[in-house]
Amino acid sequence: MKFHLIADTHCKTAPDHEDNQNLALALQDMKAICPKASAFAIAGDAMQDGYGREFANLYSMLDQHNPLDQPDVGTFICLGNHEVRGGYYVPGNQWIPNTEQEGSLPTPYYKTAYNLYMEYNRKYMSDTQGKICFDHWIDGYHFIAMNPDNGLKDMAYFSPGQLEWLEEKLAEDASDDKPIFVISHWPLRDTYYNSNMMEGFGHQDAKVKEIFAKYPQVVYFTGHLHTRFARLEIQSRPFGTMVNTPCFQSSLSGYVVQVEENRISLKARNYIEKTWLPEHDFEIQWPSLPVLVAKAKKAPPCEKLIGAIAEAEEIMTMHYENNWVKDAPRPELFYNLPDTKQRIERLRKVFLDYQGVK
Ligand SMILES: [Fe+2]
Ligand SMILES: [Fe+2]
Repeated sequence: MKFHLIADTHCKTAPDHEDNQNLALALQDMKAICPKASAFAIAGDAMQDGYGREFANLYSMLDQHNPLDQPDVGTFICLGNHEVRGGYYVPGNQWIPNTEQEGSLPTPYYKTAYNLYMEYNRKYMSDTQGKICFDHWIDGYHFIAMNPDNGLKDMAYFSPGQLEWLEEKLAEDASDDKPIFVISHWPLRDTYYNSNMMEGFGHQDAKVKEIFAKYPQVVYFTGHLHTRFARLEIQSRPFGTMVNTPCFQSSLSGYVVQVEENRISLKARNYIEKTWLPEHDFEIQWPSLPVLVAKAKKAPPCEKLIGAIAEAEEIMTMHYENNWVKDAPRPELFYNLPDTKQRIERLRKVFLDYQGVK
């Protein structure tokens, strides 16, 4: 099974704006390189300000160039902070600073963005009964799109009702051998080097981690950080596998994700130059480290397993001390170090051998 994944396209109100034209070209390239893809996702900030004209442009572009044969069940256009906070210069729409807003009361633009999304995105959602989040099962894999319930300046806000829905959905026919793909705009805090930038995820960070931790087979795709290719990481965490998606607007790139029983491959592609970027590919070996650790913890304890669990937990809880301190020297990326990759592979082998899987 293959799907297309991009983020942060930041489409504008003028249909002929370069960012819009690039996306139209990219959609055509996606169709050409992988005509049988089963899904297509934009991990938020698909639009610059969430204006009606932007929705009209983006969705008419999708009507014309959606790369899928069956767009209605495979298209996941997620909302980011840009759409739900609205443009700064709209009268009466001063952004609410993250720190001053708990999120329970709708911010000025949120209702407009919500209404536009529910109207335009209806064709890609099942009946959600007013919920802004939705899910589909595609080729036997569960895809869940998490959209925010309020329009803060930078952070996410997910209501208690939506988090309850998320937990129910994760439980739906869950099998620990299969990844569950969750797509949202916001990375969780203390993951990537700059994941705490501008307050990071928001007040529900701990709660979402707690929910995901019950399903370590979650693969969580996010955008928002506009991280340069060379600084992108895929991380193993106790709450799943985290994937930081490149910013389409600046890199003109994204991933073709190929899902196989033993691995998930992310093939980097520049859609405008029509080139593959193998130096920026990633592979997630499956079962992933978080899945194997969760299983090992349920097994009868033995010395070898206890040591491997402790080492894996050390890797899965590594975090950057100076998380995005402006102008501070940037640290080496833990997860991209050959040493970390080797340790993860060695530990996976210990767990797999123990389970009798060759
Ligand atoms: Fe963005
Ligand atoms: Fe963003």
